[in-house]
Amino acid sequence: MNITAIRPGPSATAFAEFVQHDRIHRRVYTDPDIFALEMDRVFAANWVYLLHLSELPAVDDFKQVWIGTRNFVVSRNANDEVAVFANRCSHRAATVCREPKGSASTFTCPYHGWKYDSRGQLFGVPGKKAYGKTFKERGMHLARPAQVATYKGLVFATLNPDAPALEAHLGHSKRFIDDWLAHQGGHENLRVAGAQRFKLKCNWKVVYDNAGDGYHVPFSHQSLLKMTSDRYGGGDMSYFADADRSNMRLYDLSNGHTLIDQRPDMHKVSAWNQQRPQPGRESFERHVRNATRPDAVNAVLDSAVGAGMNLNIFPNLLFIGNQIQVLQPVSANEVLVYWYATQRADADDEMRSIRMRTQEDFPIMGEMDDASNFEECQRGMESSPDDEWIDISRHYETGKDQEEAPGLTVGPVTSELHMRAYFKEWLRLMSAQPVLSIQKTKP
Ligand code: FES
Ligand code: FE2
Repeated sequence: MNITAIRPGPSATAFAEFVQHDRIHRRVYTDPDIFALEMDRVFAANWVYLLHLSELPAVDDFKQVWIGTRNFVVSRNANDEVAVFANRCSHRAATVCREPKGSASTFTCPYHGWKYDSRGQLFGVPGKKAYGKTFKERGMHLARPAQVATYKGLVFATLNPDAPALEAHLGHSKRFIDDWLAHQGGHENLRVAGAQRFKLKCNWKVVYDNAGDGYHVPFSHQSLLKMTSDRYGGGDMSYFADADRSNMRLYDLSNGHTLIDQRPDMHKVSAWNQQRPQPGRESFERHVRNATRPDAVNAVLDSAVGAGMNLNIFPNLLFIGNQIQVLQPVSANEVLVYWYATQRADADDEMRSIRMRTQEDFPIMGEMDDASNFEECQRGMESSPDDEWIDISRHYETGKDQEEAPGLTVGPVTSELHMRAYFKEWLRLMSAQPVLSIQKTKP
């Protein structure tokens, strides 16, 4: 059985007035009805990142994931396949999985004991004889999204059977994802580890707005830059101080995906030498110099440092440094932000610990600056409803945003091109009337 839900709702004209080339209406960030529709049209009807395969290393490993506010479970089953199914019992809708992650070959609903296997297939119903002949025909397995696809270990899903193939959706962002994975020694070498989790009192898009924002750094992170410069004479991120004159570039990669490429400045000298000090830095460097061929030392040291990209895959996946950030919208003014640390399978203990120290650096020292501004943006939009617009016009009129190839526009790193770009995609998605589909047939 294929279950589809057609969700009529406001059409294009309703949102076009809220999303203009140089400004966005505050209701897009504050209105619970718009949020509810986003969960269908921007999340469920679009490709959404779920997890990386390294998070489920063994058969029967599972993890709860979210497509917007829709809760699913991803499980690796005995055939070593990944199954994605809704965390919602086919009986009376209780969640069948109550642990964020773990290992289980079966899922037993705690309410009346219905049993599902690791593909979400119903195989046990207590007192089954009380059900009639039509029960079996009704499709009572856990609901699966219309499409699931993987790009180099990154698992995505959508409830939209008409969504284009995942690789077409990723488009221009693929070569930068490839670069990011190459920095981790290739996609099979990547290990996604645990996450720091923040619950912020703001709309999820306030976080996405910041993901491509090269303008805020010397102001929002003033104390971090000052501390680095006072104590160590510059280094990591100092090139943001005069960002418009830097070599960094901001990309609109189409489909809402954007990128700040810090690499031209980060690798001008040596990413390792520019890195803010972290505990164990000197002994790590000594270790690498002793254990590595001289001509490979710099590459190994640089591989301990972040990848030099803020690569944002709309709507919920952000690569920042060596980390993977995942956005989970909760309501119009709440979002969960996960900062996943990553490791390399080929790393020794010294490399493993220095990477962790580096990855603790920004989420602890810098994220709080951003988080407080995110919440204050939301508060401003909610507490001054008469001042209706936020401005996204920076570098719109300077002509400095240039289309380099079809669907690939590059601008100065402080341009608000990234917001103009992703709101174009947001408007397109919100104006479509997608059909959402789940399957409850035998997997
Ligand atoms: Fe799951 Fe009744 S709700 S068995
Ligand atoms: Fe920031």
